[in-house]
Amino acid sequence: MSKRIQHFLSLKDLSSDDLIKIISRAIELKKDKFKEGYEPLKNKTLALVFDKSSTRTRVSFEVAMTHFGGNTLFLSPRDTQLGRGEPIEDTAKVISSMVDLIVIRTHEHSEIELFAKNSSVPVINGLTEKFHPCQLLADMMTYIENKGSISGKKVCWIGDINNMCNSYINASKKFGFELSVSCPKDIIEKKKPVDEIDYYENPIDAAKKADLIVTDVWTSMGDENSSSHDKKFSNYQVNNSITMHANKDYVFMHCLPAHIGEEVSQEVFESNHSVVWQEAENRLHAQKALIEFLMKKE
Ligand code: CP
Repeated sequence: MSKRIQHFLSLKDLSSDDLIKIISRAIELKKDKFKEGYEPLKNKTLALVFDKSSTRTRVSFEVAMTHFGGNTLFLSPRDTQLGRGEPIEDTAKVISSMVDLIVIRTHEHSEIELFAKNSSVPVINGLTEKFHPCQLLADMMTYIENKGSISGKKVCWIGDINNMCNSYINASKKFGFELSVSCPKDIIEKKKPVDEIDYYENPIDAAKKADLIVTDVWTSMGDENSSSHDKKFSNYQVNNSITMHANKDYVFMHCLPAHIGEEVSQEVFESNHSVVWQEAENRLHAQKALIEFLMKKE
C-alpha cells in the first residue's frame, strides 16, 4: 500500500487551512442543497461500520451520499464477521477493496487507527472514546454562520473531559480560539490531556466572558454503569446562573442527544442563545464538504 491515504481520525489530520476550506464549502453546499446534476459520488459507496448507536451521524452520512448520487452500506457488528472475531486488519483490507470511503463508530481509538492503517480508502472517525471530529466541523460551521470567525473568541466547555472535550482542545489549536474547561477537580487531575488550556473547578470562572458555551451528557455512551460519576457533576449544569457570566450574545451548543435537567437546564436549551438544531442539521452539510475533500484527494 504505497499511496498515502488521507484519513480523518481527528482534527489533527488536517491543516487549519483545509479545515476552514471544508467549512466554507459546507456553507456553500447548504445554500444549494440539491444542485441539479451534481453527483460527484455517482456509483461510489460509503460503508458505515458502526459498533454503537447513532441518529445524527448515521442519518447525515447516508443523506450526504444520496445527495451526491452515491450509495451507503450500514454494517453493525451483528451483520459482519467483525462481531465474531475476524481481525480488524483483515476486515479493513476486505471492505476497503470494495468501497470508496468508510466511516467508523467504535469504542477504542486504537481500533480505528488499526483499521485506517490497513485500509486502501479514506477512513472517517464517526466517534471513538477519544475524539468526535465530525461533530466539531458542524460546531465550527454553526458558530461561523451565526457570529463570523471563531479565531480569538473564548469557548467554555463545561462537563466531562470526554471525546467532545478532547476534540474542542484540538479545535482550539486549529481555529485559534481560547478554551476554558470546567469539571470536578479529580477529573481534571485524572484526565487532563494537555497543560496549555485553562482548567477551572468552578464553572462560573470558566464561563466568564465566553462567546460559546458547550456541554455534553455527563456519562458518555458505553460508560452508563457509573452513577457515582454523574453525582460529581451536579454543580456543572449549564443554567442561567452560569450563562449570566458569559458575553451577552453568547451561543450555546450541545452535540445531542441531551439530558435536559442534567447537564443543561431547559431554559438555556430552549433560549435564543441555543443553536442546537442548526448544529445538528449542519452535520449533513459539513460532512458533505468533508467527503468531497477526501475524495478529491484520492
Ligand atoms: N452527536 C452525535 O454524534 O449524535 P449521534 O450519536 O446521534 O450520531
